[in-house]
Amino acid sequence: MTGKFITFEGPDGSGKSTVIKAVEEFLKSEGYNILTTREPGGIRIAEDIRKVILSKENTMMSGRAEALLYAASRAQHLAEKVQPALSEGKVVLCDRFVDSSLAYQGYGRELGIDEVWNINKFAIGDVLPDLTIFIDIPPHVGLNRVQKSTRKLDRLDLETLEFHEKVYQGYKIIIEKFKDRFVIIDGNNPVETVIEDTLQVIKTYL
Ligand code: TMP
Repeated sequence: MTGKFITFEGPDGSGKSTVIKAVEEFLKSEGYNILTTREPGGIRIAEDIRKVILSKENTMMSGRAEALLYAASRAQHLAEKVQPALSEGKVVLCDRFVDSSLAYQGYGRELGIDEVWNINKFAIGDVLPDLTIFIDIPPHVGLNRVQKSTRKLDRLDLETLEFHEKVYQGYKIIIEKFKDRFVIIDGNNPVETVIEDTLQVIKTYL
């Protein structure tokens, strides 16, 4: 039995976590067997790598090292958590996956989408999401939300608006490249609408 792998992408501050929580609650109430997880993280080794990547002290980290660390955490998370859940037939809801690396490291850090894709192929083999929800908000709106929120700012949040705008352009390229599995949700709407729109897409898909 194989489950379904659903990933959520978007600029920082797009509201992914709130949407994922609502999707999880709804699908559980419908009797689906759900695993909710996130990248980078989701298991101890990957959470440890997350701390290294996002620490504000690590401003000297090179773009290549950053890309490799994300890929390493992804490989472990996939092997230890995502793949076993999919083999058990679960619906896996994952906050960010390889598309984040393509957009942030490939395009934002200018390492090249193809280069970053290649190292990630080594990390993930042929596991790709069945469906990817992109919550679409302009990067400056997202960053504003992050700055106003109570959560601690990390190294990536502190990047310039230009960087986040580049990441956003990168996403647009990646969505075009993988248009069969991407669905764009308008993140400018009130959160209830964003949740409703996302649920509609997922219900139809499942
Ligand atoms: P989060 O705030 O959505 O948990 O993600 C942490 C940060 O890491 C966010 O700024 C996006 C960034 N990121 C990458 O740059 N590359 C990746 O591959 C992933 C998964 C996240």
